Amino acid sequence: MTTKENTSETPVKRKKLQRIGVFTSGGDAPGMNAAIRAVTRAAIANNLEVIGIRRGYQGMIEGDFIPLKSSDVSGILQLGGTMLKTARSSEFRTPEGREKAYRQLVNAEIDAVVAIGGDGSFTGALILSQEYDVQFVGIPGTIDNDLYGTDYTIGYDTALNTVVQAVDKIKDTARSHGRIFFVEVMGREAGLLALTSGIACGAEAIMIPESNEHHAQLEKFLSVGYKYKESSGIIMVAEGEEAGGAIKIAEDVRKEHPDLDVRVSILGHIQRGGSPTAKDRVNATKMGVAAIDALLDDQKSIMIGLDNEKIVHVPFNKAVKMNHSIDTNLLDIQKLINI
Ligand code: F6P
Repeated sequence: MTTKENTSETPVKRKKLQRIGVFTSGGDAPGMNAAIRAVTRAAIANNLEVIGIRRGYQGMIEGDFIPLKSSDVSGILQLGGTMLKTARSSEFRTPEGREKAYRQLVNAEIDAVVAIGGDGSFTGALILSQEYDVQFVGIPGTIDNDLYGTDYTIGYDTALNTVVQAVDKIKDTARSHGRIFFVEVMGREAGLLALTSGIACGAEAIMIPESNEHHAQLEKFLSVGYKYKESSGIIMVAEGEEAGGAIKIAEDVRKEHPDLDVRVSILGHIQRGGSPTAKDRVNATKMGVAAIDALLDDQKSIMIGLDNEKIVHVPFNKAVKMNHSIDTNLLDIQKLINI
């Protein structure tokens, strides 16, 4: 795609950075509010005006904009969800939708935009910036922690702790009844949340899309480990696991082992809510400030990332197209410890 020329029908952008927009998009994640607050206050400290774009790309298309002052982002640091709301916009996937979005940005004299979200949000930003030369900087906000180039995405740490707390409770009832629980966690096509929460909970097996060793591990537990221990078991299943999620896997296990008492628990959207952990708040704040620094430095189409605690800039096309690799050493550790 090429950058569009400014014809008489295409509104003209201002040259100098004076006013920025900020929005959240895709699935919400705890810590997004902390990022909005940091972006707003860092921008104001640098004499920039801030416009909150509500409901992600859909709100951009509809011009659902609100001015943000420092006091507007007061008291939100510890709140889950996003004060700007979020959406998954199908209209933005169309060229007509993106043209409307661009016109709204120019009409509101928004010179640059901070996008807080995941791969879908940055793919959208990349396309709009290629079509209309909009200056975008991204902040990774997703519980999935699946973006290339950053060790960490906002919301992942809170979701991890939410999963651990929930599974600790499930373990109480599993142990009391001598049951095996298949616990499904979110992560889309990524298994990191299942892997790390499984280790933190002492799961007997962890089933993730990035590895195919776990079927043998599960079978070993069901046929040897479980009977030997005469106890209970937790099997963590990533929602993107190729065998088809916790319900399907549990059905198959019931057929093969009718003697076992099997239950399924799908944690679902509880994983996206709640007050962000201290780690999510601190990292969201660091990344929010870094996003404004990057805009002032005339950076565009990059995502702010953290590499060994240090701020890095990752081009959007790498962040969304390349895979976040998983530390398979963690799987080896889990096998060694839990069977
Ligand atoms: O990307 C975050 C996430 O929670 C994924 O883990 C999950 O697959 C998806 O969003 C669920 O999306 P929705 O809330 O639209 O059902």
